[in-house]
Amino acid sequence: MCGIVGYTGPREAGPILIEGLKRLEYRGYDSAGIALVDEAGGLFVEKRAGKLANLQTALLDRTPHAAIGLAHTRWATHGRPNDLNAHPHVDCTGEITVIHNGIIENFRELRDALEERGHRLASETDTEALAHLIEDAYAGDIAEATRIALRQAEGAYALAVMHRAEPDRLVGARMNVPLVVGIGDGETFLASDVAAILAHTDRVIFLEEGDLADLRPSGVSISGIDGVPRERVVSTVAWSLEAAEKGGYEHFMAKEIDEQPDALRAAITGRVSRDGRIRVTELDGLATHLATIDRVELIACGSAHYAGLVGATALQEWTGLPARATVGSEFRYAPPPLDERTLVIAVSQSGETADTIAATRLARERGCRVVAVTNTVGSAITREADAVLFLQAGPEIAVAASKTFTTQVTTLVILAAAIAKLRGALEAGAELELGLALRALPDAARRTLDNAADSAALARRYVNSRGFMFVGRGLTYPAALEGALKLKEVSYVHAEGYAAGELKHGPISLLDAEVPLVAVATRSSVYDKLISNVMEGRARDARVIAVATEGDPQVERFADDVCWVPDTHEALSPVLAVIPLQLFAYHMAVARGTDVDQPRNLAKSVTVE
Ligand code: AGP
Repeated sequence: MCGIVGYTGPREAGPILIEGLKRLEYRGYDSAGIALVDEAGGLFVEKRAGKLANLQTALLDRTPHAAIGLAHTRWATHGRPNDLNAHPHVDCTGEITVIHNGIIENFRELRDALEERGHRLASETDTEALAHLIEDAYAGDIAEATRIALRQAEGAYALAVMHRAEPDRLVGARMNVPLVVGIGDGETFLASDVAAILAHTDRVIFLEEGDLADLRPSGVSISGIDGVPRERVVSTVAWSLEAAEKGGYEHFMAKEIDEQPDALRAAITGRVSRDGRIRVTELDGLATHLATIDRVELIACGSAHYAGLVGATALQEWTGLPARATVGSEFRYAPPPLDERTLVIAVSQSGETADTIAATRLARERGCRVVAVTNTVGSAITREADAVLFLQAGPEIAVAASKTFTTQVTTLVILAAAIAKLRGALEAGAELELGLALRALPDAARRTLDNAADSAALARRYVNSRGFMFVGRGLTYPAALEGALKLKEVSYVHAEGYAAGELKHGPISLLDAEVPLVAVATRSSVYDKLISNVMEGRARDARVIAVATEGDPQVERFADDVCWVPDTHEALSPVLAVIPLQLFAYHMAVARGTDVDQPRNLAKSVTVE
């Protein structure tokens, strides 16, 4: 969840690195730092707690001319977020600099042993131990010294290393944390994410577990930490720089909410034909196996878990197999019985969430086949999977998921239908009904956005509420959970997501005139039941905001405000229903003046347990 960027080449490194950090700030932002080897061969290091702006202020007029450097934004795991613990970390000689994303699990033993050997460690971090281990191993070759050091380290890392005396050489290493090499013309880059370097090159190598990359301006060579050379493919990234930037919106979250029609179109592309037929070619290699499974387990965290709840319901209904969604952190330590007849579907937009990956690995070790659903090419989850379905949603920069949630739901619904079809369990009529609804979904999402044009005013009407209760039933329940999560994340207002039928079993006591009920009341097989639950809340003076299907004749009788969404297939209703809730959360956050794209205490990708 930290951000790494490195550069070696003929240009000024400082501005390239700071620009890269700006695009990585979403990965973590409690401190930032930079190291440069200047023209005279001196090492310049500056680091500051707080946002990148603090580092930029500290650098004003002081950034030396340099053709090599590395930089970092941090999201603290070991040691408080202060100047001292900010990266880069330097060894005793002041020649070696290291930046790191991940956790070195045996850092205490390493630090103790280093201190016994006379090393002086200045910070509380696990990372600093690596700088000193490399110092011990250094004999004129920074790549070899890094290899030796990493053989002693246990845990997860993406690493960038530089030695003052080798002023055109950067070393990167990856173990369970993403790291990308960028290849330019006479220059090379290292980054946690392509967004950081896309302005300079679209040619990248996604490093794999245990890779060590030795970068010079002329190119890169890759080996394992055993020194054995490894061949890696150079990919061309299709994302434009513009797609990774804010493009006129005040916040990435607003931009990404608005991009949903296009993102949904991309998610459906190649999977649903014009005449409504569903086919997922990614499953071709698993077709025979899918006929033999007797259960499906979906593993995910946060918003991806809520998308997984929709996927589990659809799978269960269409395949007739038991299917359930469990959060990664619970699955890992209390797994259900697993064997080769259990299909695991791992859902993660980043593909790097530690809880999801660890739980998925466990399932794999027990013989399960894995299908990954992710937005991130080259991410860790793709290496744990027998088949991968990419969301194709484009980069999502705001910490709060929006387009990746709706594309996850859509992709999981397509996947559920495709599995049912391969097993001969989906009737042609049912496939057609769903397929045509999928084809219509992008336009329906656009209309939903248009309908919600007054969501800023709606948010302002409720901005002083003490808290919110979001309720849904059946397939609208995951949308209620996601709506509540969005509001909590970005506006810092307390919100609960509840199954509407559970209101009366406790949380109804929270309702009064200052705690509104948000009812996800789109057309469904349990609509009437939901309305009865909402009426119970209304009788306790709660104001009601309803998300309802266009043309619903009843809803205005019990709702103070209504957000209208077009009719769609029930399985896809969470996709449309959540859109007004995303906008409501966004405008509540704006009205309350929070940091919308980088809410406090959160990181986009949670790569620690
Ligand atoms: C969503 O708004 C959150 N930021 C968070 O719950 C997120 O969905 C979760 O951390 C899982 O992330 P992933 O999809 O990258 O695995």
